[in-house]
Amino acid sequence: MRLLIYIAFPVCFLSDSSCSSGEKSVHREQGGQETGYYQERHRPQFHFSPESQWMNDPNGLVFIEGVYHLFYQHFPDSNIWGPMHWGHAISTDLVHWEHKPVGLYPDEHGYIYSGSAVYDSDNTSGLGTSDNPPVVAIFTYHDPSGEKAGKIDFQNQGIAFSLDNGETWKKYSGNPVLKNPGTRDFRDPRVIWHEPSDKWIMVLAAGDHVSFYSSTDLIRWSFESDFGSRLGAHGGVWECPDLFKLELPGVEKWVLLVSINPGGFNGGSATQYFIGEFTGKYFMADSPITRWLDYGMDNYAGVTWSNTGSRRIFIGWMSNWLYANKVPTTIWRSAMTLPRELNLVKTINGLELASMPVPEIYQIRNEEFSIGHFLVESTFDLSNQSNTRFSAFELSFLIKNASSFKVRISNSIGDSLVVGYHGFKLGDNRFYIDRRGSGETDFAPEFAGIHFSPRRSLEKDIHVQIFFDVSSVEFFADHGQTVMTDIFFPDAILDKIEIIAAENLEIADLKLYGINSIWD
Ligand code: FRU
Repeated sequence: MRLLIYIAFPVCFLSDSSCSSGEKSVHREQGGQETGYYQERHRPQFHFSPESQWMNDPNGLVFIEGVYHLFYQHFPDSNIWGPMHWGHAISTDLVHWEHKPVGLYPDEHGYIYSGSAVYDSDNTSGLGTSDNPPVVAIFTYHDPSGEKAGKIDFQNQGIAFSLDNGETWKKYSGNPVLKNPGTRDFRDPRVIWHEPSDKWIMVLAAGDHVSFYSSTDLIRWSFESDFGSRLGAHGGVWECPDLFKLELPGVEKWVLLVSINPGGFNGGSATQYFIGEFTGKYFMADSPITRWLDYGMDNYAGVTWSNTGSRRIFIGWMSNWLYANKVPTTIWRSAMTLPRELNLVKTINGLELASMPVPEIYQIRNEEFSIGHFLVESTFDLSNQSNTRFSAFELSFLIKNASSFKVRISNSIGDSLVVGYHGFKLGDNRFYIDRRGSGETDFAPEFAGIHFSPRRSLEKDIHVQIFFDVSSVEFFADHGQTVMTDIFFPDAILDKIEIIAAENLEIADLKLYGINSIWD
C-alpha cells in the first residue's frame, strides 16, 4: 500500500541530464517543493506515465520474447505537445514498467506520429534474416513544413526496424513506404498479418473513414478499400484505428476500433468500435449502431498489443484533446489507462465488447477488508471501517436489484468525486461520473462536468469494480460491459470513501484493496 513518504534522493532539475531514465531522483515541482520519484502531486501510482514531459497515444505495442513493448507519442523537451518522438518502455507483466531511451526521433521526413509494430517472423520484409527476423514499426511521418505551406499531402507512412527485439531501431532507407494519395488526414497505420489472404493488412485513418491496404513485404502497399464514411460517429476526424479477430464458442468476428476527435459520446475525444466481417479486402459492420469502448472522457487513441495470440490486450491514453495540454501536472503530462483485456459478449443488442483490467494487476493489491452482505439506508463510510487511508485503491461490490447508488471519494477540504448509478426507480438506467467538485477544474471550460453512460446489461444485480489512482478513476460495470474512465485533480488527496444510498441499498461481496505503487 502506498504511503505518502517523501524520500531523500539526490536533487536534480529537469534540464539536468543526470535525471535520465532508470535513475530514481527527487524532482522539484513548481513552487520549489521537492518530491520523491513518482511522488509529485497528482502522479498516478499504478498506471504508466512518462518520467517527465509530454505523452499522448500508445504506439508500436508488440509482445516479443516475453516482453511487452509500449511506445508512445512523446515530446522529450516540453510537457506540452510538440515535435513527436516515440518514447519507449517495457514490461514483463503489464504492471511494472522500465523506461527505455527514445525509440524513434523525427527526421527529414517529419515528426513521428502514431503507428504500430509487428514481429516479421518470416522476414517477409527482408530487413532481417530468417535466423534473426526483424520487428517492424509502421508509423506516420507528419511533415510540419508541408502543413505550414498549405499542402495536403504532408502525412505519409514510414517504417523502421529492429534486429535486437525492439531495443534499438533503424529507419528504412526507402521511406516513405506509403505515400499520401491526396488526403489531408492520412495517418496512424495499424498493421496485422491476415492469415487467410497470406498478406499484411494496414488499416489507417483517412479523415472521415479508414482505408485498408495490403502488402506481402511491409514495403510495397496496395489499396484495398475504404470503410465508414456513412457509419458510426462523425463529429470529428477519425484517428488511430485497430483491427483484430475475437472469438466466442461458435462465433468468430472482426473488431475495428476507431478513435474520433472531437465527437465522443460525452464530448471531445473518444473511441468507437464496429463488429463485423473482414475479408482481407473489405470490412462489413454487422450493425449500424454506434458503439463506444469507454463512455468516460479520458480514454483515447487506445490500441492493442500485437503478437499476443488469442489474448487481446488494450491500453489507451488517459486524457482528452479538449484539455490535455492544460491539465495541472508539473514535470510530466498524462498517463495510460490500465491495460485491459477485450472480449466479445452476447447482449440484447447483439455482440458487444467487454473490457476488464488485466488480471496481472491483482498482484499489487493488498486485501484490506471485505464484507459479505449489508444494507445501506443513507451513507456507509468505508474509511471508518479500515484504519488505512488510501490514495490508490480498488473497490468492488455487487448491488442487488439494480438500485441507485453513489460512491463518493472526498477529502477534508471539500473536494469530491462521485461514481454512481441512477436506477429504474429514478426513471433512468445510467451510470455516471461527476467530477464537478473534484478540485482544480477551471484550467479548461470543458473539464468540470458529469458524464453519463447507458447501462448495457439487463442483469438484476450490478457488479461494480472501481480503480482510483490519485488522479484517475476507471469504472467497470457488469464485468466490463459498461466502462468509464475520467481524470481529476483534487487540491488534496481524496481518501475518504463512502457509499451513499438513494433508496434502501443491498450490497454483497464488498472488497476494498489498497494498491501498491509500481514505482517504489
Ligand atoms: C491522436 C493523434 C494521432 C496522431 C497523434 C499526434 O491523439 O492526433 O492521430 O498520430 O495524435 O501526436
